[in-house]
Amino acid sequence: MGRVAIITGAGRGIGAATAMLAASRGYKVCVNYRSSAESAREVVAAIAGAGGKAVAVAADVAVEEDVVRLFEIAARELGPVTALVNNAGILERQMRVEDMDAARIRRVFDTNVVGSFLCAREAVKRMSTKRGGPGGAIVNVSSGAARWGSPDEYVDYAASKGAIDTLTVGLSKEVAREGIRVNAVRPGLVITDIHAAGGEPGRVERMKVSVPLGRGGMPEEVATAILWLLSDEASFTTGAIIDVSGGR
Ligand SMILES: NC(=O)c1ccc[n+]([C@@H]2O[C@H](COP(=O)([O-])OP(=O)(O)OC[C@H]3O[C@@H](n4cnc5c(N)ncnc54)[C@H](OP(=O)(O)O)[C@@H]3O)[C@@H](O)[C@H]2O)c1
Repeated sequence: MGRVAIITGAGRGIGAATAMLAASRGYKVCVNYRSSAESAREVVAAIAGAGGKAVAVAADVAVEEDVVRLFEIAARELGPVTALVNNAGILERQMRVEDMDAARIRRVFDTNVVGSFLCAREAVKRMSTKRGGPGGAIVNVSSGAARWGSPDEYVDYAASKGAIDTLTVGLSKEVAREGIRVNAVRPGLVITDIHAAGGEPGRVERMKVSVPLGRGGMPEEVATAILWLLSDEASFTTGAIIDVSGGR
């Protein structure tokens, strides 16, 4: 049976790099996006151009019906899903906790936490050997922010990633005897558009002195860790959280 991966937020950034690498390793790939339709189509075209198979599916992971539809389309178009990368994530403008309103905190938690839970739920329903599924692997994209706390920038985002670490540990134990491994990567200072969303496009440049390796990371360097965790080479690894942060 072929391997089928759903990668959320795969139109750009770390998700796009992960989709491309997964396709090159033989996965059929569902490239989920929320608003970046054009770049998601480009990822699909690049995969097809290299001889792989992929489909782009619009879905907001924070919306339950969207997530259910995403998994249905992926299964119909590509076959039974065997891998999920919970990559979609947002942060908002840098500010202190005392200035945050409830709407902002909810937006961050809806996408980063509720979205990851909903996608994990749908994946487990389809993968669990207890339910007749083929088994599989889930990788959650957390953040070094879960360890650092991101003071004066986005403690809400950091806290949402702390929740992802706990989801990883708890779910990994829940489904360990059902053929599903659940792990996470915790990237730090990777060169993508996410820093512009926080209002500081040059953030990696400013902060790279704090990275022992002395530079920001590339999305592809996170993708390789994700693909290892998804692969059979990681067959005895579950509940693990790998820091991909240049030693920071
Ligand atoms: N870059 C870093 O330094 C860094 C560090 C640690 C952790 N991370 C984590 O890595 C992951 C990817 O981030 P990135 O750096 O690649 O950021 P990015 O370039 O800003 O990409 C974010 C991706 O998430 C998608 N997305 C956001 N909200 C969504 C929703 N509700 N439903 C579906 N997709 C949604 C976006 O899709 P659309 O464009 O279609 O809206 C986009 O593809 C995130 O979870 C982030 O927290 C990044």
